[in-house]
Amino acid sequence: MIVSVAKETELKENRVALSPDGVKELVAKGFSCILEKDAGLNSYFTNEAYEAAGAKIVSKDEAFSTADVLLKVAPPVSDEVKLMKNGATLLSFMYASTNPELVAALTTKGITSFSVDAIPRISRAQKMDALSSQANLGGYKAVILAANYLGKIFPMLTTAAGTIRPSKVVIMGAGVAGLQAIATAKRLGAIVEVSDIRPETKEQVESLGGKFIELKSDESVQIEGGYVKGVSADFLLKQQELIAKHIAQADIVITTALVPGKKAPMLITEEMVKSMKFGSVILDMAVKQGGNCAISEFNNTVVKYGVTIIGEPNLPSLLPLNASELYSKNIVAFLTHLADKDKFFLDRDEEITKGSLITLNGEVVHPSVNINIEAAATN
Ligand code: NAI
Repeated sequence: MIVSVAKETELKENRVALSPDGVKELVAKGFSCILEKDAGLNSYFTNEAYEAAGAKIVSKDEAFSTADVLLKVAPPVSDEVKLMKNGATLLSFMYASTNPELVAALTTKGITSFSVDAIPRISRAQKMDALSSQANLGGYKAVILAANYLGKIFPMLTTAAGTIRPSKVVIMGAGVAGLQAIATAKRLGAIVEVSDIRPETKEQVESLGGKFIELKSDESVQIEGGYVKGVSADFLLKQQELIAKHIAQADIVITTALVPGKKAPMLITEEMVKSMKFGSVILDMAVKQGGNCAISEFNNTVVKYGVTIIGEPNLPSLLPLNASELYSKNIVAFLTHLADKDKFFLDRDEEITKGSLITLNGEVVHPSVNINIEAAATN
């Protein structure tokens, strides 16, 4: 089976799907590996390192047209899918339920596709969990990036010239990214306050040294399988009122709150930004999903009311070396779970296969992908 690694083309995407170590592992298992020339350069992996690991360096055309399995980080665009061999297999982030153009293109080419963002969050799949490996790094980078825009240090410092008070960091959302952001801000010496609406997060936040902002839940808060499924507009208003005073006193606010499959909850209103200290910083990690802050801008860093608001949509890509290394480990585990060097097992009763299989020979098989293929194809 020829496994091919494509060079990423999305704006600011520095990651690559497979590291030289990943190539070595697959080659040892009997797969053939090819790599689009320079695919690893933005992650600091040279063509020579891939060659030494056993990959053949090829043109873009060859990387797409001869692949039995195409590996990517970001979802391919339709023109890339057109370059693929009919009936080949794709493994990448796909966000299929909100990406009709991609699904339509896969259908046209008879592609079988597995989406890493749809891998079920079960213990058995932890080593394949790219959402977690990337969110973890994103949470770290969020703190470093925000700290860089702040005209203050994080820790308390007592010097002959006087005492510097510690900075206050407020983190909204204590999932994988939020927990890493808490740990990172604490390590740098900040006072950290955190809000989440899943009750179990209180203990996790406190174990990392964060102060939990208590919020009374109501019947509109739906939590299923460890995820928030939705909250009412009324609840969000109450939450905004409660957190307003914490936001007003913060030096940095990092928002990571997400509700899978829905627009991100709006937690920081324009009025709240106005109330913040001159020179403070907001980093909105949910900016790609509509944003947790009403006035953050996708892919832009802006200063509004004296507050720097960072709308960086791809934080893991700013740590491409680690992000690609971890993604590569996830992908090798995922691919070798689904296939051996000769064939895909396609056991559709198996939980990881069932959860992540989006199209099979071009037919949409995932229950949560309800897309009008004809309409998407003509767009
Ligand atoms: P996520 O990225 O979907 O959401 C981030 C956080 O935002 C969550 O903690 C969520 O509760 C919070 N949030 C949603 N609405 C909010 C609001 N209005 N105010 C404040 N916070 C709000 O979540 P992520 O990071 O992907 O993980 C979520 C769950 O998945 C957790 O239960 C985690 O333990 C679980 N998980 C399980 C894994 C496994 O068993 N293999 C691996 C990774 C995560």
